[in-house]
Amino acid sequence: MAALASAGDALTPEDRAALAELRTQRTLTYDTQEHDWRSPVVDAMGVEALQTLEPATDGRSRGGSRGAGAPWLRKWTTRSPDVRERILAAYLSFLQEVVLPHVREVCARHGSTLCEDGLVFQREPSFRCHAPSPNPTGRPHCDADYGHSEFELNVWLPLVECGGSNSLWCEPAPGIGDYAPFAVNYGEAVLFWGNRCRHYTVANDSGITRVSFDFRFLFRRLYDPHMENIYGGPTAFLLGGYFDAIGADGELDADLARPKGHGVLYRRG
Ligand SMILES: [Fe+2]
Repeated sequence: MAALASAGDALTPEDRAALAELRTQRTLTYDTQEHDWRSPVVDAMGVEALQTLEPATDGRSRGGSRGAGAPWLRKWTTRSPDVRERILAAYLSFLQEVVLPHVREVCARHGSTLCEDGLVFQREPSFRCHAPSPNPTGRPHCDADYGHSEFELNVWLPLVECGGSNSLWCEPAPGIGDYAPFAVNYGEAVLFWGNRCRHYTVANDSGITRVSFDFRFLFRRLYDPHMENIYGGPTAFLLGGYFDAIGADGELDADLARPKGHGVLYRRG
């Protein structure tokens, strides 16, 4: 973790103030016409109302990390090229026009230059389907438990109304406890410090399936390719693999090597 410490050491007081604000949980609102996350998912699932996606009925799918939403997660995995392209377009525009302006404003207000090198972000957002079930999905954790950088920030974005048992429960600051579910709707996104704030799901007895996306991003200046994983080996969270990057102007880094076949993010011109 030596390289991580050095990245932290280079932070100015202004940078630290900006980071502290960004690590404080808050809700961002956005225009769902401009950033259409939902219709590609509706098309991929072949249903009109995502909140009524049925839980799996076979015993194998009811528990475990994928839980009762497993059939829908499988459906997402095999989504069509058209859906893939549309969701990545929504994602990229969201990063460029919602996330980047927000972090730029926070940095400017605190006099931080962290934004000047742009952002590193999770190449594909994670898709979640938390169907009604007597079992939670996943287990309580903070993302640092899995070797993620402390400089990462998390965005959690539901496609249906969430709150209570169909939402993600999170503590408001590291180690505080006092867990509460995100109470948000489509058109809202929660920005939080999932790297240090523990979060988990509970048995969804709401009768409403939660469909959501989430992703991680960080300032490129604080990205460390030499970071170690939790076993002391090289990190798997590499730029060009797990991560992609946009500059301060929002443009994709044209020099970054990208895998083929991953939709609109990876086309030139
Ligand atoms: Fe997490």
